[in-house]
Amino acid sequence: MKIITISYRLPLSIKKQNRKTTITQSAGGLATAILSYSEKSNANLTWVGVADFEKNTWENHKDSFSKNFEIEPVFLDKKLNKNFYNVFSNSVLWALFHYFPSYMEYNDEAFEAYKTANEIVAQKVNEIYEPGDIVWIHDYHFLGLANLVRQQHPDAKIGFFLHIPFPNFEIFRIMPNKVKRYLLEGMLGANLVGFHTWDNAIHFTECVEKILGLNQRGFVFSQDSHRTKVGSFPISIDFDKFHDAYDKPNVIALREEIGELYHDKKIIFSVDRLDYSKGINNRLYAFESFLEKYPEWKEKVVFVIVIVPSREEIGKYGERKRMIENNISRINGALGNYKWTPVVYQYQSVDFDKLIALYSSAHVALISPVRDGMNLVAKEYVAARKDLCGVLLLSVLAGAAKELQEAITINPFDTELIADKINLALNMPEEEQQRRMERMQGYLKTHDVFRWASNFLSETEEMHSHDNKAQ
Ligand code: UDP
Ligand code: G6P
Repeated sequence: MKIITISYRLPLSIKKQNRKTTITQSAGGLATAILSYSEKSNANLTWVGVADFEKNTWENHKDSFSKNFEIEPVFLDKKLNKNFYNVFSNSVLWALFHYFPSYMEYNDEAFEAYKTANEIVAQKVNEIYEPGDIVWIHDYHFLGLANLVRQQHPDAKIGFFLHIPFPNFEIFRIMPNKVKRYLLEGMLGANLVGFHTWDNAIHFTECVEKILGLNQRGFVFSQDSHRTKVGSFPISIDFDKFHDAYDKPNVIALREEIGELYHDKKIIFSVDRLDYSKGINNRLYAFESFLEKYPEWKEKVVFVIVIVPSREEIGKYGERKRMIENNISRINGALGNYKWTPVVYQYQSVDFDKLIALYSSAHVALISPVRDGMNLVAKEYVAARKDLCGVLLLSVLAGAAKELQEAITINPFDTELIADKINLALNMPEEEQQRRMERMQGYLKTHDVFRWASNFLSETEEMHSHDNKAQ
């Protein structure tokens, strides 16, 4: 028995530039989570995803890295992929599901491309599927896939997990009727449909009831071929990996370097993919307002902001980058001076050791998404604090806020209140920092990515075997 895990993004990206080939780990929470799971579980895993490289590049490099899973890349035509990924997935679904309806750029051609891409990926899954396998589908790129696989393999065990929020009915209904039906029917092809929070699960069941006219009992929808259970499965991290990295010699050296560089300052830190859902401008406004309201912190604090490039071909992302960079340079120009740069910014990814060194050097992590399914960064920051120091400021609009009860919560739009909370965090006594960190770490230690994956997969199997016994 194998697990066929399907996500748009493969765990690795292979890029060719000036005749040089670089292989990097893909950015984002989905890749981090499934990679962590695959590293330590003994599961026999085959990962299906869309290639961001050519067929011959794959043939030349597929044996040049070690991995404990099989990779099955799907090669899509460029135009099709653009309509599927850039337009329908990221300029319709991502925008709408993160409550940015005015950013939605729907067109029928993109919807057709989405359906075609789901069909092509379904064909690949059908080719490698063997009876007994679990089909584990991830995220908004493949909302139609479970139904397509089910049509070919009526008895398949299928779990679908959404890594982003599922919006309420008033937002979901904005899409054309044929689209709404396709997406919901697609998801209902699974035995189990999982979300990060119960709010999202409830939004989904309401949409199914109102749009498809089906009724649920105890979060289970009964259909002719199978039943679909809906539930909440908050994704998490490999706690030990982030916790133990604190003591890696390279991390210690990097932390010392950061400590020397900012020896007379407190560090506020954030790291995200560049995305309008992450509230990066909101946090810049709040930091500016904090410096204006609490001028005693001038020259005594630095805001280190890491932004990982993402979806650069999409207009709204380029626009957002320009807005963020304007804000950073405005703040530095207006409040900084020749001795002090208030916001230190990089628009590049960081490797794991640097990330841990930054997490474990930061007095405050300022995480302010205006909407986020989970936000793994918040969990990683807590796990990385083996010293039990540091304060997490976390938006209530991130799924993680439901679990990390000892974080200082913020409303990303309440600039003045965030300014006050930054001040509170920077002045928080060590005992209180430790008390909060200890409790959050206690929770994350037991609620890690392995528990998430095994709960999700075993519930998928359970739903499937119930149905088969009943027949
Ligand atoms: N991350 C990354 N590259 C980096 C810095 C961070 O891939 O240069 C990782 C980070 O460690 C975290 C993930 O990206 O695991 C971000 O996940 P999150 O859930 O916070 O947001 P997403 O990007 O999935 O929306
Ligand atoms: C989020 C999504 C993932 C996606 C990741 C990176 O985590 O839930 O599905 O892979 O962002 O975005 P990208 O568009 O580069 O794959």
